[in-house]
Amino acid sequence: MNISKALIGALSAAATFLASTAPVRADGEVNIYSYRQPDLIQPLLDAFTKKTGITTNVLFLDKGLVERIQAEGANSPADVILTVDISRLTEAKDAGVTQPVANETINKDIPDHFRDPDGNWFGLTTRGRVVYASKERVAQDDITYEELADPKWKGKICTRDGQHSYNVGLFASMIAHHGEAEAEKWLTGLRNNLAKKPDGGDRDQAKAIFAGECDLALGNSYYVGLMITNEKEPEQKEWASAIKVLFPNTKDRGTHVNISGMALAKNAPNKENALKLMEFLSEGEAQKIYAEQVFEYPVLPGAEPSEVVKSFGEIKPDTLPLAEIAANRKKASELVDKVGYNDGPQD
Ligand SMILES: [Fe+2]
Repeated sequence: MNISKALIGALSAAATFLASTAPVRADGEVNIYSYRQPDLIQPLLDAFTKKTGITTNVLFLDKGLVERIQAEGANSPADVILTVDISRLTEAKDAGVTQPVANETINKDIPDHFRDPDGNWFGLTTRGRVVYASKERVAQDDITYEELADPKWKGKICTRDGQHSYNVGLFASMIAHHGEAEAEKWLTGLRNNLAKKPDGGDRDQAKAIFAGECDLALGNSYYVGLMITNEKEPEQKEWASAIKVLFPNTKDRGTHVNISGMALAKNAPNKENALKLMEFLSEGEAQKIYAEQVFEYPVLPGAEPSEVVKSFGEIKPDTLPLAEIAANRKKASELVDKVGYNDGPQD
């Protein structure tokens, strides 16, 4: 059966389907279900097709990827899942839509702490949860997450929703490092330092610094790259120019990072090709293309991020296993509610 025809038949109106053009030769196909925008991953897939002759079919979804694979069941055409954030990777594993991979090349390329001990998911790039600081109003050039709870920052900090997976990941890392009681005290302190109720996305926090509403914000590192280079909305360049990037805890455990990653789908009909793609994505050429494309950091040790990303400064990533962060996510989410984080500053 022609898988791409079957795939097209199965598509809902909401989904976008793209097939790469002009494969070198027809050595089969691989079907990718992706939460990542097609234009971000296309250069990677083109390089893969050029090298292997394997055609890539991408089904882009902005939600419901796991539910879709579950609904398709044993006949799911999904081979490889591409997504961002440890929460989504563990969601896929927990829902039973992935299968374990034990592959020497992949395990050699991707450090232990960036992959599932059972091989159900693998990190491909990392993103730091950094501090955006006002160039004008913040003199210091280093900071710790712990310090964000110091009353000296009262009324000075902006963040997005405490329940957003980016914040939950960071808060989960605080629980892993300090225990629940200490993390609760810290989160209460951070809440009290907020300038306003959590709102908007990470870029909106840079905008708020630009507008003088706050001096510090939590944000993912790649948004700085996306703002600096934003030709469609050039006002974002101004937001970015108002901030400097501080990499928290560089002097001790390192900056909290999350991952974008991949998984092998449970019923992958093109398993061999899927594994070839997964190997390719973990190796040097793809690591460089991918990281440049998304302004993130390659997981492959020694692979370099883009010049734009390098211009923010050097990251020293916290090596706490992502699986441990995943294990503390639920507690972190409960803590956000318990301290009333999203109600904003209280005393
Ligand atoms: Fe994001």
